[in-house]
Amino acid sequence: MRLILLGPPGAGKGTQAKRLENLRGLRQLATGDMLREAVKSGSELGREADRIMKAGQLVPDSIVIQMIGERVDGPDCSKGFILDGFPRTVGQAEALDAMLAERGTALDAVIELAVEDAALVGRISGRFTCGNCGTLYHDETKRPKKPGVCDVCGATEFKRRADDKAETVSARLKEYYEKTAPILPYYKGKSILRRVDGMAPVEEVARQIDGVLERV
Ligand code: AP5
Repeated sequence: MRLILLGPPGAGKGTQAKRLENLRGLRQLATGDMLREAVKSGSELGREADRIMKAGQLVPDSIVIQMIGERVDGPDCSKGFILDGFPRTVGQAEALDAMLAERGTALDAVIELAVEDAALVGRISGRFTCGNCGTLYHDETKRPKKPGVCDVCGATEFKRRADDKAETVSARLKEYYEKTAPILPYYKGKSILRRVDGMAPVEEVARQIDGVLERV
């Protein structure tokens, strides 16, 4: 199965992708995570990506298209994949279609997580992750059961993303509406776009996504 989870920053794409990965054996391909790995490596690409991401802008299409192209054929994607944060422009969407057509495949569904802007800033500014296993937490809605200790792996180091500051979040939202939202009519025209209520609690969003996938 080949899916896209689409939605603004903080819509819950990563939360739902990780759940589907565990449940269905699909591989989460998150361009944001790949770019953050490049930043950590200190490569020339990483330094360039770091500057762009801290400004809340999109990195050039050519870079992310190449990153995804290198991953979709991997053995870890044999059961399929969930694209999280890609595509983000109509150019990326067209390149993805061409990439899949070359391999004789196509997307099964594009799931839009619809969330109001007012909720996004609160979700992003409260977010933090385990520094060891990456489990996602939130200052108000999902704190570790034992303060300062990861529920999953027991680690005690946590981190926050450099682009999760309120001023950068506004720039990221602007990029979303200008460059990414035009993808929605692109996929609607192909009759594979499905919308779920991303304002609902995590478990309800998951239930709605499962409902969509049962019909694919
Ligand atoms: P990326 O890493 O993709 O970030 P994003 O799209 O901005 O999305 P987020 O990861 O912030 O949010 P999410 O939707 O995954 O929400 P999450 O599940 O974490 O991109 C970062 C940057 O990289 C971009 O700005 C750009 O510079 C660059 N980039 C990446 N891909 C690119 C591309 N293709 N082209 C060009 N540039 C690219 O949830 C957020 C919080 O909300 C969490 O705390 C969670 O616990 C909570 N939450 C989740 N669901 C719910 C719910 N239903 N109710 C209440 N709280 C919830």
